[in-house]
Amino acid sequence: MDTAEIRRRFVAHFERAGHTPVPSASLLLDDPNLLFVNAGMVPFKPYFLGQETPPYTRATSVQKCVRTPDIEDVGKTTRHGTFFEMCGNFSFGDYFKEGAIELAWELVTKSQADGGFGFDESVLYPSVLDGDEEAVTLWKRITGLPDDRIVRLPPKENYWSMGVPGPGGPCSELLIDRGPAYGADRDWDAGDRYLEFWNLVFMQDELSAVRSKSDFDIAGELPKKNIDTGMGLERVAYLLQGKDNMYETDVMFPVIEKAMALTGKRYGADHEDDVRFRVVADHVRSSMMLIGDGVTPGNEARGYVLRRLLRRAVRSMRLLGYGDPALPELMPVSRDRMAETYTDLRTDWDRIARVAYAEEETFRKTLQAGTQIFDLAATEVKKSGSTRLAGDQAFALHDTYGFPIDLTLEMASEAGLSVDEEGFRSLMAEQRERAKADARSKKGQHADTGVYRGILDANGPTDWLAYETLETESRALAVLQQGAPVSTLRAGEVGELVLDRTPFYAESGGQAADAGIIEFDGGRLEVLDVQRPIKGLVVHQVRVVDGELASAEGATLHAQVDPEWRTGARQAHSGTHVVHAALREVLGPTALQSGSYNRPGYLRLDFGWTTGLRPEQVADIELVSNNALRADLPVGWQYMTLPEAKDWGAVALFGETYDDSKVRVVEIGGPWSRELCGGTHVDHSSQIGTIVVTGESSVGSGNRRIEAFTGVEGFRYLARERDVVGQLTGLLKTQPDDLVGRVSDLVERLRAAEKEIERARLSQLLAGGAQLAAGASVVGGVHVVAHRVDGAGGGDVRTLAMDVRGRLPDGVPGVVVVIGAADGKVSVVAATTERARDLGLSANDLVRAVGPFVGGKGGGKADVAQGGGTDASRIDEALAAVHAEVARATGQSTGQA
Ligand code: ALA
Repeated sequence: MDTAEIRRRFVAHFERAGHTPVPSASLLLDDPNLLFVNAGMVPFKPYFLGQETPPYTRATSVQKCVRTPDIEDVGKTTRHGTFFEMCGNFSFGDYFKEGAIELAWELVTKSQADGGFGFDESVLYPSVLDGDEEAVTLWKRITGLPDDRIVRLPPKENYWSMGVPGPGGPCSELLIDRGPAYGADRDWDAGDRYLEFWNLVFMQDELSAVRSKSDFDIAGELPKKNIDTGMGLERVAYLLQGKDNMYETDVMFPVIEKAMALTGKRYGADHEDDVRFRVVADHVRSSMMLIGDGVTPGNEARGYVLRRLLRRAVRSMRLLGYGDPALPELMPVSRDRMAETYTDLRTDWDRIARVAYAEEETFRKTLQAGTQIFDLAATEVKKSGSTRLAGDQAFALHDTYGFPIDLTLEMASEAGLSVDEEGFRSLMAEQRERAKADARSKKGQHADTGVYRGILDANGPTDWLAYETLETESRALAVLQQGAPVSTLRAGEVGELVLDRTPFYAESGGQAADAGIIEFDGGRLEVLDVQRPIKGLVVHQVRVVDGELASAEGATLHAQVDPEWRTGARQAHSGTHVVHAALREVLGPTALQSGSYNRPGYLRLDFGWTTGLRPEQVADIELVSNNALRADLPVGWQYMTLPEAKDWGAVALFGETYDDSKVRVVEIGGPWSRELCGGTHVDHSSQIGTIVVTGESSVGSGNRRIEAFTGVEGFRYLARERDVVGQLTGLLKTQPDDLVGRVSDLVERLRAAEKEIERARLSQLLAGGAQLAAGASVVGGVHVVAHRVDGAGGGDVRTLAMDVRGRLPDGVPGVVVVIGAADGKVSVVAATTERARDLGLSANDLVRAVGPFVGGKGGGKADVAQGGGTDASRIDEALAAVHAEVARATGQSTGQA
């Protein structure tokens, strides 16, 4: 049965049983605790927690998921893929254990002819959380299985949570016995023998902390008892297709086949190679799906995961012996298998391919640079007589050049070297510790949402009036400091204030929080920041300007957004949409925003694009933007369902929940710009005033950033530039139009003058040459010039030495040593004439003789040698040593003739 059919049967089964089919949400749902959606229940979390009322009581979905804590294990064990699809059925306070067990058992055991999966009952083992006798009884009654077929497992196995604070509960899993070839009888942990393929979670608890699978804190019961199940689509597919693991299904294997064709290697022939083939199949698909949902490669968080996946895929191909660009060959194969379900893969293909292929190119360059660094390190190691690459060298290759350790190991062994792996690993462990500490401190910020939840539960959501008014009377609901309620805030103190209603815009969707003031009887607060730490609750960070704020229930305050600020904010946010639309008009529809930020007067927009923009493209974007302002396009918004918004051509960025709740679509000039957005906007595009694009730059691989000033800030920026031009024209006594000509003229002349100065300096230096040659001392018949030039560097010293040697009388034995000192560096050049060399005098020996005096070394040939040092204090002794050396070589006593 192919994967698509399994998916269809699953959804059809639950639709028949009254479940609403819900399309998969994006992998990037907005949850501060999660990098990616990691289970089918994630989009439904607010329903489980009772924060929102679900529009249905039963739902079913096939959800895209990514789990990446064990990327390194992919392919080594065949149990985990980084991307997978989870088929689930959900009950929100409707049926519970009994219904969930009945529905799952029916689908799993019903014959294939009748639309089921047709698994043989004799190999199925339900598991329960040890102690959940209710579940045991139900399983026995519904399936007719004897007691010893119901497996009792500890919380580590059968208590499910998201791994972070949120909903959780005991669970029951369906295991399938794959026979003694896969492990011992009734050894439930024996890896692949009893493979679990469907998890039924009896979701009833709210967890406040999760430290491990068996160590967590239950904060209380959820408002209702719910069901969350997850059936691994890949697992069922390989079981029903008679394959050994998820990489061999109809969806995954074609990529492996393509990789075989490219590399000439065979899957199934060698364990190491098989792991590589599986890594390729898994990572190519995962990264394609991540890019599809808007992730771009980077060095942090989601972007970093994507980067690792792409690079590991490329490297695995390399290790399989394929050195050419691999993704353009492999990714289209994966796309063709996945696009039947995820049609966006086709419509967005240009963008997806561009991002992926550019990252492969970057990595290929990294490999090249890293290889050079590696070669250098290897040469050094060998030179020092060792055969072992140090741990910190391997670590630097990894850390600085993104060079994976196994590649280093492999190349080292090719070069006949070993690697201090232990040293490398301890440096890696240190780095991981640092990263963990960092993550811990970040998590801490989310762990404290309990206080906010309490306020929300007691008072309901904040009455949020940002779209309607700039000021309102409000009641104080809570005053907090450092996350804990306090009774007062005194003048000068900073704290948090929750109001029953507020006109303040809380930072979101790239728009900065509103500024303003909040007045109360006897005092005044300045609003520093406004956030929404949990859905539905707006929290103001305030500083007490005057008076003392008491948290006394019900105190009345007057909240007032700074109207100037808000005007600027509306201009900047609408301006961001305008620039985005202009960008897509100039570069084409594949230029898609990947992030944005705007505050009064300023906006920036990051977008997926792999090459720098040409100046004329930037100018075009600015022109199209300002034409849109001049056209005075109407700006409006309306609410609709997400599918409607998509039909309407609204640019949907990631992070939307796919339920029946409405999304807000902001449009400027009708279809010209339609975006999902919760921000505040102007009414007509001309109110933006102006858009002045100030720059375009790279923000990591595959992403560019465009920045602009809006409104009055735009004019101020232009005024500043005009002022600079004014000062320059004054200074240069010219007209603005002639400024560039004048400046380039000046630069030209400056360059010519510098050249002239350099020529003069050199001729002065060399002018001394004739005199030096004439004044040579004679030691044992050898003409010796030993001379110091302060302020001369290596090149000049050499020029002078050669010049002097050329001026010595023809046919005499001659030795010239010039020592220069400049910027703390000493340069030595020695030169000999042919006759001197006949006498056994060598420039090389002379440089060596002065080396100890100047704290350096050097060498060369007998006719010319060069050296350097760091100690200029003994140059005169060094020069004396030259005479001594000549005397020694010619058998004379020291002395100047
Ligand atoms: N949420 C449950 C899981 O991920 C079904 O296993």
